[in-house]
Amino acid sequence: MSDLARGDLSGEAQSEERSLEDTLRPARLAEMVGQTRLRENLSVFIEAAARRDESLDHLLFYGPPGLGKTSLARIVAREMGAEFRATSGPVLERAGDLAALLSNLERGDVLFIDEVHRLPAAVEEILYPAMEDFQIDVLVGQGPSARSIRLDLPRFTLVAATTRAGLLSSPLRDRFGWSARLDYYPASDLTKVLLRSARLMKMALDPPAADEIARRSRGTPRVANRLLRRVRDFASVKQAATARIDAELARYALERLDVDEAGFDKLDRVLLGTLIEKFEGGPVGLDTLAAAIGEDRGTLEDLIEPFLLQGGYLDRTARGRVATARAWRHFGLEPGRGAAVDAAQSGLFETPSRDRKP
Ligand SMILES: Nc1ncnc2c1ncn2[C@@H]1O[C@H](COP(=O)(O)OP(=O)(O)OP(=O)(O)O)[C@@H](O)[C@H]1O
Ligand SMILES: [Mg+2]
Repeated sequence: MSDLARGDLSGEAQSEERSLEDTLRPARLAEMVGQTRLRENLSVFIEAAARRDESLDHLLFYGPPGLGKTSLARIVAREMGAEFRATSGPVLERAGDLAALLSNLERGDVLFIDEVHRLPAAVEEILYPAMEDFQIDVLVGQGPSARSIRLDLPRFTLVAATTRAGLLSSPLRDRFGWSARLDYYPASDLTKVLLRSARLMKMALDPPAADEIARRSRGTPRVANRLLRRVRDFASVKQAATARIDAELARYALERLDVDEAGFDKLDRVLLGTLIEKFEGGPVGLDTLAAAIGEDRGTLEDLIEPFLLQGGYLDRTARGRVATARAWRHFGLEPGRGAAVDAAQSGLFETPSRDRKP
């Protein structure tokens, strides 16, 4: 998805964006902004393992895109003084791919499997004994003479990440020593992320301008950094040499980028718009809503709803999803009144132009 406002980097992820992302990635636990509870716990586990001179237990990080799962995986390796080896679910097509990777590990290595929910079942099965007993069974030879031999693996740490924890099988989930959920960041944390990024990118960013961007970043550091780069473009064109970014310039740029007050992207708008216009604000069942917006229910539950729930735009009730008064007002509507007519007039269903990269 190329949405400016979404955390996702998959799809047409630009290599420029990736390399900049690497520059901005926090390298140590202490450099990471926010997620305090998670960081505190993690540092205890890391220190305890180090004191016992053991490898760290297997870890699972889950949560929406762009919140820092990959960053954390790298940080774990760095803090443990371990080698970091990365792969991902869709890359590991056959059991042999994973077996080869595993048998090349050394003691203490961190193996990172991104998008772990996309591991094929046959590959996942290799992982069970590898995680639990540090052993794998490999098939040698072919046809009738093929036999299986058991290989011992060094003690390694598996760090896995997923945006869709609900899709993991329970045997896999149960084999992690610790699973941690990453939450959306409050705007005050995103302000810190932005000021840090500005420093690394040698930009002059006023704190009020950082606040302005942070509020519209959908709780997501990746989105904040992306908006910062676009705002910088406006600054360098409009203000030439000094290119100082103040609040006024930030507001101007964000308006030009069509990023609304809540930082909503197209999917957020479509979901709330559908709920309000077609279902008079709800309640409506998850499956019905998913069908109406043409997404599967898992995507809706894992990727779209959490932000809207946290922001108080959506409610989950026993009878289904409900758009809150706040959601109605966001679109300039009076809660529960004249939805169909007003929605059409308010341009609720217009595709925001920020859907395209400016
Ligand atoms: N806590 C943080 N502090 C500072 N920067 C952060 C933090 N979390 C994320 N970032 C920034 O956001 C970018 C995206 O983070 P990261 O790639 O770790 O997210 P992710 O959860 O792995 O996303 P995806 O699900 O798409 O793989 C990083 O390059 C980093 O610059
Ligand atoms: Mg990642």
